[in-house]
Amino acid sequence: MSVIEIMPLRASPAVVDMLCEMLIEAVAAGGSVSFMHPLATEPARTFWSESLAAAAQGKRVVLGAWEGETLIGSVTLLLDCPPNQPHRADIAKLMIRLSHRGRGIARALMIAAETEALTHRRTLLVLDTAVDGGASALYESLGFHLTGVIPDYALKPHGGLTGTKIYWKRIGDNARIAGNA
Ligand SMILES: CC(C)(COP(=O)(O)OP(=O)(O)OC[C@H]1O[C@@H](n2cnc3c(N)ncnc32)[C@H](O)[C@@H]1OP(=O)(O)O)[C@@H](O)C(=O)NCCC(=O)NCCS
Repeated sequence: MSVIEIMPLRASPAVVDMLCEMLIEAVAAGGSVSFMHPLATEPARTFWSESLAAAAQGKRVVLGAWEGETLIGSVTLLLDCPPNQPHRADIAKLMIRLSHRGRGIARALMIAAETEALTHRRTLLVLDTAVDGGASALYESLGFHLTGVIPDYALKPHGGLTGTKIYWKRIGDNARIAGNA
């Protein structure tokens, strides 16, 4: 099996192109990642360009999973929280190329995001995932706790409403001191 490397992404035309391909493919395959199908290249490019610009300002970390020169997965750690939540971060835009799913790459990216959060002194992670076709089993297996479900929260990429599940997880000292309840 080939080696997968995970590292923070910096803006370059090649990286933006690969992120766009991945996002368009994920949306076309029904992934609930904020966009509708068909997703055109331009809005995808705008999204990733702005996301990587925010990363360059330290407001987020966009992690990439690489197989050689090919970007095969990504997850974003959002650090730009309000002043009264300096200990918190959000997880967003977890996606893996269709060709590389089912090999534990999303799990590895989530673990890397958690490590990255700790280096930024974050001790509480929050995320949400679609009820239909989301990744709740993955998040629960990583120790995330379900807060609840908001019904009819968003449209699925091909239409029709789905609820969203809100999850949280304490990490680092916060988890050891406060427990995960
Ligand atoms: C969800 C997604 C990121 C999973 O990527 P992946 O690399 O195939 O996941 P992994 O191989 O790391 O799987 C980790 C575990 O989660 C489970 N899992 C993965 N995707 C799942 C899904 N869609 N539904 C239920 N369980 C899933 C796997 O069975 C695996 O369990 P195991 O470790 O006990 O065998 C990928 O399917 C994807 O990109 N989907 C489209 C975008 C999306 O929906 N992202 C989540 C937004 S919140």
